Amino acid sequence: MAAPVTLLRTQVGIVGGGPAGLMLGHLLHLHRIDSVILERRPEDHVVERVRAGVLEQGTVDLLASTGAGDRLQREGMRHGGIYVAFEQARHRIDMAGLTGGRVITIYGQNEVVRDLIDARRASGAPLRFEVSDLTLHDVDSDRPNIRFVEQGQEFALACDWIAGCDGFHGPCRTAIPAAKLRTFERIYPFAWLGILAEAAPTSEELVYSLHERGFALFSMRSPAITRLYLQVPPDEDVAAWPDERIWSELQIRLRTSDGWRPKEGAIVQKGITGMRSFVAEPMRFGRLFLAGDAAHIVPPTGAKGLNLAMADVARLARGFERFYGDGQTDLLDTYSERGLRRVWRAQRFSWWMTSMLHRIPGDAPFDHRRQIAELDYLVSSSAAMTSLSENYTGIPFE
Ligand code: FAD
Ligand code: DHB
Repeated sequence: MAAPVTLLRTQVGIVGGGPAGLMLGHLLHLHRIDSVILERRPEDHVVERVRAGVLEQGTVDLLASTGAGDRLQREGMRHGGIYVAFEQARHRIDMAGLTGGRVITIYGQNEVVRDLIDARRASGAPLRFEVSDLTLHDVDSDRPNIRFVEQGQEFALACDWIAGCDGFHGPCRTAIPAAKLRTFERIYPFAWLGILAEAAPTSEELVYSLHERGFALFSMRSPAITRLYLQVPPDEDVAAWPDERIWSELQIRLRTSDGWRPKEGAIVQKGITGMRSFVAEPMRFGRLFLAGDAAHIVPPTGAKGLNLAMADVARLARGFERFYGDGQTDLLDTYSERGLRRVWRAQRFSWWMTSMLHRIPGDAPFDHRRQIAELDYLVSSSAAMTSLSENYTGIPFE
């Protein structure tokens, strides 16, 4: 005889324990709203996943205002500018000076996740790792529920609402009937090879570079760790990139004629990420809300993915707060519409940065010259640099 299903109940069922799900759970706890976070992967996998590193001021403020920003305040690296490099020269864009003091903070996404897991643990609210076979039911009724398996035991979680924070490949978006969703997609004909190296950063700020051989990016995680990226063909095998080849290519693409170059060191992590733009509209179906990568993907060149996820859950949490505070659904009803304006602005910016800074396979010499002209205009026009700075540092959260 099959084991009986264990029945659980919560106000908001959160699928996914990445940055979006963990931040939403944290915000709901602060407003005394019950939630259960369900995550497919083991905890160490979630904490060690190396991904984004650029936090907008809105993201930093959100973490600080909810008590999860202490380590970020101590260890985060505040940057008031970035460099754009082409034709062997680096040009600084003074983002703080051009935007009345707006800055970005470098702090690894995995550190944000670690801090949010600590906050969740401290709250005592449920966070369940290694759940499998998760399915959504009755999401367009008043009584949606989530079924999942944990350690061989089957559970049914009855919810008032479900938050789909399960990333691009999760089950939430696909639980919405195709006829109720419109999707927009662009896949780019290149990928990023990213590494973490035990080498002191040789530039105080990030360097985005366009070289004839393709894009390269110099970033960092700490005074001892450099983070670097290279444009590579789509579906590239990481085995094709032994350490010596990575350093050689990075030096060619990043080195500038003033003698600046990245310092080399032991490569401690290596990975390849495809590039796409994707939006699902609307970000809601019945009692299911999509947030973060579950609803939209941006190519990483604009450093917007994590920040969009944070803006989504801040807005969604306010909607739940209003609903449980005074029964009004107005903020939940406008969650998608208000969010999509921000999403499309980030899509536009990320697409623009990506198009300006990557070599398109098979493009004509004309296209490369045009890209150089665009970069030349960018770094010589305070209007153009201000536009980049406003978007890169991020429009304020609502
Ligand atoms: P995710 O971080 O994807 O979290 C979703 C969570 O849901 C995951 O923990 C997943 O395990 C869980 N989940 C999925 N399916 C299920 C299920 N069936 N049941 C339960 N849980 C489930 N952005 C940048 O700005 N710069 C970068 O360099 C950069 N690099 C990236 C590299 C990679 C490989 C990826 C995938 C993304 C990268 N991004 C980058 C984007 C950025 O990391 C994301 O925008 C951010 O992680 C979004 O957070 P999220 O919580 O919405 O989604
Ligand atoms: C990093 C990632 C990005 O996508 C980006 O645009 C800038 C920096 C990083 O991982 O540090």
